[in-house]
Amino acid sequence: MLISFEGIDGAGKSTQIKKLVGYLTLKGREVLTLREPGGTEVAEKIRLILLESRHEISPIGELLLFSASRAELIEEIIKPALAENKTVILDRFFDSTTAYQGYGRGLNLELLRSIIAISTCGITPDITFYLDIQPEDAIRRKFSEKSLPIEFDNSELDRIERSGIEFYRKVRQGYLEILNESQGRLVSLNALDSPEEIHQRITALLDERLKA
Ligand code: TYD
Repeated sequence: MLISFEGIDGAGKSTQIKKLVGYLTLKGREVLTLREPGGTEVAEKIRLILLESRHEISPIGELLLFSASRAELIEEIIKPALAENKTVILDRFFDSTTAYQGYGRGLNLELLRSIIAISTCGITPDITFYLDIQPEDAIRRKFSEKSLPIEFDNSELDRIERSGIEFYRKVRQGYLEILNESQGRLVSLNALDSPEEIHQRITALLDERLKA
């Protein structure tokens, strides 16, 4: 089974993934968790270019780098894990490309679909949990731990995070479009609900799907 988590930065994906791994492991499943971009030696190098570098990267360059990282992860790790019947949990997958590079950067959605099909070899999640949050709330959440006025210092932000609030508004709008068109693959969860409440909904839905 392939499960992915999506949402803008600060939506709380990592917390939910940790809880879900605990739950599935207790149920006796062998679980593999991966995050994108990254996950193989080459993909981690691409991650550094994409997130840590101070270089300008064109939208098409960005799209191809995310896709190259994904192609490596699919071939080296995901295909073999699925073949061994493992449950694979992905912290982001191709919906991030549609939301960030398609709706956020404004790249042509048809072009994106072709590149996604090539980089994933057509592999699609069985279910995708989308944690919905307004960009303003996500920023507040990210910085509340540090009690630091964000306009004073953005040096801790990665290259994508420095794209600004307007960019994140477009990305969220993108996710809502993807959700509408997903024919039930995406499940939307309110990221402002308590982590325990969200976890309960996720496990209830998964149990239901596994039974079916
Ligand atoms: P990461 O540190 O993994 O952030 P998060 O905890 O929010 O997942 O950074 C990944 C960043 O890359 C994040 O800002 C989303 C972005 N991204 C894209 O723009 N396109 C993609 O296809 C993927 C996978 C990620």
